[in-house]
Amino acid sequence: MLIYYSDIGDLNSMCGIVGYTGFRPVVDILLDGLEQLEYRGYDSSGIAVKRESDIKVYKAIGKLVNLREEMKKHSGEFEKSTTGIGHIRWATHGAPTVLNAHPHTCNHGNLVLVHNGIIENYKELKAMLEKEGCIFKSQTDTEVVAHFIAKKYDEVKDLTKAVRLATKEIEGAYALCVMHNDYKNTIVATKRNAPLLVGFGEGEFLIASDVPAIIKYTKKAMYLSDNQIVTVTPDSIKLIDKDGVELPQKVELLPWEPVALSKMGYKHFMLKEIHEQPDVIRNNLVGKLHTASEPIVLNEVKLTKDHLKKLNRIQIIACGTSLHAAMVGKYLIETFCGIPVDVEASSEYIYRRTTTDSHTLVIGVSQSGETADTLTAIKQAKSKGSHILIITNRPDSSMAREADSLISVNAGIEVSVAATKSYIAQLMAFYLLSLYMAEIKESLDVSVIQSIKNELMLIPQKIEQILASTDEIQKCARKYSGTKDFIYIARGINLPTALEGALKLKEISYINATGYAAGELKHGPIAMLDDTLPVLSILMKGTVYEKLLSNSEEAKARNARMIALTNSLDPKLDDLFECIIRVPDVQEFLSPIIAVIPLQLIAYYIAEFLGKDVDQPRNLAKSVTVE
Ligand code: AGP
Repeated sequence: MLIYYSDIGDLNSMCGIVGYTGFRPVVDILLDGLEQLEYRGYDSSGIAVKRESDIKVYKAIGKLVNLREEMKKHSGEFEKSTTGIGHIRWATHGAPTVLNAHPHTCNHGNLVLVHNGIIENYKELKAMLEKEGCIFKSQTDTEVVAHFIAKKYDEVKDLTKAVRLATKEIEGAYALCVMHNDYKNTIVATKRNAPLLVGFGEGEFLIASDVPAIIKYTKKAMYLSDNQIVTVTPDSIKLIDKDGVELPQKVELLPWEPVALSKMGYKHFMLKEIHEQPDVIRNNLVGKLHTASEPIVLNEVKLTKDHLKKLNRIQIIACGTSLHAAMVGKYLIETFCGIPVDVEASSEYIYRRTTTDSHTLVIGVSQSGETADTLTAIKQAKSKGSHILIITNRPDSSMAREADSLISVNAGIEVSVAATKSYIAQLMAFYLLSLYMAEIKESLDVSVIQSIKNELMLIPQKIEQILASTDEIQKCARKYSGTKDFIYIARGINLPTALEGALKLKEISYINATGYAAGELKHGPIAMLDDTLPVLSILMKGTVYEKLLSNSEEAKARNARMIALTNSLDPKLDDLFECIIRVPDVQEFLSPIIAVIPLQLIAYYIAEFLGKDVDQPRNLAKSVTVE
């Protein structure tokens, strides 16, 4: 079903869920778990705890620290509670108010739940429930589910069955954790098109929407599949399908270590993550690129060599920063392998007739592996028989589980909402993949392949050089931090770099930044140029250098404030540009890796100078699990 925003009262999506039943004081576990998810960006939170004779709900708006404060005010009320559920909310529709925050309850307060997702038929259900006398306190779609499950419970007097029957009639996406006052220490959880996993401890179970919330307590976990329902108490677990048939539990060992989310002395996670990029590249080359003369090893690609040679089309689908990595990927694969590649935003891909089939390789790119649009697109392509290759930083994600081939990019956990190191890691996956395919297809001159490989191995040092002296970048950032608009221009393989640089700036500084193909300037955008507008030209040496120089002259002739990001030492640039950021020399094919680093830093320093919330920019969430 298509979702139109106007139809949606509240998208309680992209939220974080934690549940616990066991022997420990539950509030600390829930707050800890929510804190591990909080870096993704949220606006309100809440907790429900089971007490001797009731369920008590606590909520607060704003950051989690506010909920902590709220809990302190009530300490003494829940000391003995060892079962509870918690939630952090990212509102898209419906203000982040206490009433809209989760957990939500039914009218008599006996049933309480937290939800991640969108209930598409909430209006119909709400109308029906209102007729039956339900009174709604919030504007959320979630509250409908609380009333609806409570209604089923009143009929069947069995919480698991009530959840099962209710979710049969609920349309949309959801991960739910439900408690009822009739049950001393029981949580019922289920999901459809939203992630949810159950952690197994000794005499305890944890439920969460993502691993960091539970990893401190256990590495043993079971990912729920769509429409499965799990019922946990401290010493029992039962998994059933939508018809009530009991299922075996597939418990796996999470490939995670509990990591302290530390800034390691950096002011923000974003800056720390920018500085991690040389090592991210090194990690990605280990075991795959040995020497320039040895072939790339990419055992992750499960297509046979014969199939690879016969591939005549590739589609790459992604969103945001991952989409920009995909655009570089297209350039590389088409140039190195001669295979036509379409790149499309997942949100566009899913609502039209696509011509994917078993002869097409479909590549999904996603840092989180949970982005709803990309996940839906992948499932759609898979159902048409395409081989699905996933490039992700989360090998345990929903997308990874759909993959026929999986390239895990090993960037480590990325805390800042603005993607930096995961972008570099995705680029590395595309360099390795395109070279690997070119070697199999013999579609690129061996000497060219070898020169790229040789230089790839030197890239981390070149980035370190940039990171070691950022004075010019900081000066430039300060100089232009007062601007309302910012234009980035580039051509060829660096057009995605311009788009990514602009995206970084608008995400964290809220400046209206736009990336353009420089040749397109004169077809419209040039009308905007005047002496107030900074235009940053990504002028890397290579096939389009002279062309881009001419486009920069055109912009300069309209009095734009010209900035160059370049690896050229050409003295004539001094007359054209009022600010020049020089980067180490690099061949054109590899220039997107080098050129994006100063752009990340410019965005960072401008946002930092403006005093913005760099790591958690307003209105954004790290994992976008709503279409
Ligand atoms: C990047 O800085 C953004 N926060 C955003 O555009 C992101 O890249 C996009 O939402 C896609 O996310 P994914 O890579 O996890 O799929």
